[in-house]
Amino acid sequence: MIILGIETSCDETAAAVLNEEKLLSNIVYSQTAIHQSFGGVVPELAARAHLQTIIPTIEEALKQASITKNQLEAIAVTCGPGLIGALLVGVNVAKTLAFAQKIPLIGVNHLEGHICAIRLDYPDFKPPGIILLVSGGHTLLILVEDWSNYQVLGQSIDDAAGEAFDKVAKMMTLGYPGGPVIDNYAKQGDPEFYSFPRALMKKKNYNFSFSGLKTAVLYYINSQKEKFVREHVPDICASFQKALTDVLIEKTIRAAKENGIEQVAFVGGVASNEFLRKEASTRAKTEKLRFFFPSLDFCTDNAAMIGRTGFYYLSKGQKTSLSLEANPNLKLGVPLQ
Ligand code: KG4
Ligand code: ZN
Repeated sequence: MIILGIETSCDETAAAVLNEEKLLSNIVYSQTAIHQSFGGVVPELAARAHLQTIIPTIEEALKQASITKNQLEAIAVTCGPGLIGALLVGVNVAKTLAFAQKIPLIGVNHLEGHICAIRLDYPDFKPPGIILLVSGGHTLLILVEDWSNYQVLGQSIDDAAGEAFDKVAKMMTLGYPGGPVIDNYAKQGDPEFYSFPRALMKKKNYNFSFSGLKTAVLYYINSQKEKFVREHVPDICASFQKALTDVLIEKTIRAAKENGIEQVAFVGGVASNEFLRKEASTRAKTEKLRFFFPSLDFCTDNAAMIGRTGFYYLSKGQKTSLSLEANPNLKLGVPLQ
């Protein structure tokens, strides 16, 4: 079965073609250049850019996969959560194409897409597993009992992990998106330079809080001389990154141990963080757990993960009606209409 995956939930216009589990093409048009000067995603601009680039992106995905649209057998599209204007572009293009080609449509939850990204690199990964989903909009610790059975153990009660990266980078005027920028600066810095707070780390629950960490970085910067801050940008980035990743790793390991699960996967944009990947791999050995990270292209938003999730449901005989609607607040595990 040849499937086209479409993703437009935020600031990446993406299309991918899969032959069942095999990825044939994966095109991502990033809108970073459009939003950079605003220091964050401007929803209206995002929607407009998706509108302009969605068709060329799909055409490029088909071309690189060496297939024509007439060979497509199904279409999988992100229908939420995300920015409504952005989601509407992908959903409407997918519905139109599915109707015109008379092929099945499958709506995909973006969060489930991030989880399924692990299947692109590790086809043999079988649940149960503990998955930490860390992106710009979400921080969720999930017990995956089966590929469609998710139990959210905990989540951020305020800022998402990626959001904290973006906000700290913005307050230090380092650029956008903040995650990759801080990741890069931190490589030259000392993670022990300053000890920022690790909120809720010792609490028994699986929730996270990063808003206080962000404020602590702000207070620290404001309490120091400008020249000192400028000279220690890598150290501050490394210390902030260490505080945040310490909590992520600690809680994820505890969730695995308390639930008697050996397999742990980190997914979403923040899972591409080099320091997190290194620290977690070291801890995996001492804790006798198996840690999995999707390759970098499958951590940040992409359509391959959407196509892969769609294929899973299609192979179970499920599809979505053409009345599928975009839902900006879609929750994980909620069935689509
Ligand atoms: O999964 P994603 O592409 O989009 C959402 O679904 O939100 O995640 C984007 C988030 C942004 O906040 C970005 O700063 C963060 O992932 N991110 C990173 C890195 N690369 C992207 N955070 C830390 N380190 C990175 N290398
Ligand atoms: Zn995402």
